[in-house]
Amino acid sequence: MGVSLLSSSPAFLVFFSFSTFCLLGDPVLGITRHYKFDVKLHNVTRLCHTKSIVSVNGQFPGPRIVAREGDQLLIKVVNHVPNNISIHWHGIRQLRSQRGTLFWHAHISWLRATLYGPIVILPKRGVPYPFAKPYKEVPIVFGEWFNADPEAVISQALQTGGGPNVSDAYTINGLPGPLYNCSAKDTFKLKGFGNFDPNKDPAKFNLIDPVERNTVGVPSGGWVAIRFLADNPGVWFMHCHLEVHTSWGLKMAWIVLDGELPNQKLVPPPADLPKC
Ligand SMILES: *[C@@H]1O[C@H](CO)[C@@H](O)[C@H](O)[C@H]1NC(C)=O
Ligand SMILES: *[C@@H]1O[C@H](CO)[C@@H](O)[C@H](O)[C@H]1NC(C)=O
Ligand SMILES: *[C@@H]1O[C@H](CO)[C@@H](O)[C@H](O)[C@H]1NC(C)=O
Ligand SMILES: *[C@@H]1O[C@H](CO)[C@@H](O)[C@H](O)[C@H]1NC(C)=O
Repeated sequence: MGVSLLSSSPAFLVFFSFSTFCLLGDPVLGITRHYKFDVKLHNVTRLCHTKSIVSVNGQFPGPRIVAREGDQLLIKVVNHVPNNISIHWHGIRQLRSQRGTLFWHAHISWLRATLYGPIVILPKRGVPYPFAKPYKEVPIVFGEWFNADPEAVISQALQTGGGPNVSDAYTINGLPGPLYNCSAKDTFKLKGFGNFDPNKDPAKFNLIDPVERNTVGVPSGGWVAIRFLADNPGVWFMHCHLEVHTSWGLKMAWIVLDGELPNQKLVPPPADLPKC
């Protein structure tokens, strides 16, 4: 699903029951899971800089959404900040079931620098993954930390026409780690440490429904031909994955219309969807 726009008015409450999320499989078999996202300002300290960031429920990264294939999700988003906010359920297929770890993030300006979190879609209860059961699963979300306000960074770049200032740190689950100054305590620590073993590890590969790539690198002066099967109706955003290029306008929307068959159609929006 693309993007939903919430009002800039802090008092305005927006409710959306995403048709996207209502279609992660057969809703009859799943349960309905409810989440409440309060988008608000929250003070965070990284690299010895304390600043107010836009995040969800006072968490950074934001809350983890967990569901099973076939569940319905109802996510109430309330915008308490002066910015217009959109939330993008990144990589969610609107039809058919889908498992894996995806993420949600803001899809407006550069607010996604702090407004993001993981979406974990587990298989139905009792259904195994098509690979050996892992000892433990830990979502890892990569990000970037700006000591400055990322909105000021992109707005300055758009005014000058130059490249935006680079971030101050790369982050894992919101934490820059010990390679940066004043960051030793802000390190994401993972158990189960090891290196890839080319002899033993291929047996654990998922060759049934492996992760699909949806980003392709294009070298300077190069070109790429993209061919895809339009099997997922809705409005889809195609954009350069270098943030500043998106801000500069390297972006477009694909509109994929409904197909003939019942399982190729979007469900209508819920009756209580607020009207413009
Ligand atoms: C963030 O910190 C500033 C300065 O200490 C304070 O004035 C402000 O109320 C704090 N904001 C939040 C959302 O806690
Ligand atoms: C939010 O969006 C509305 C409608 O497009 C626009 O009029 C308003 O200026 C925006 N507010 C901010 C703070 O960008
Ligand atoms: C970008 O970097 C320059 C040079 O360090 C600095 O003067 C400017 O204030 C920075 N811009 C923002 C928005 O932080
Ligand atoms: C870390 O701090 C030291 C001492 O203040 C400074 O020399 C160095 O440039 C800093 N490194 C970074 C990456 O900011």
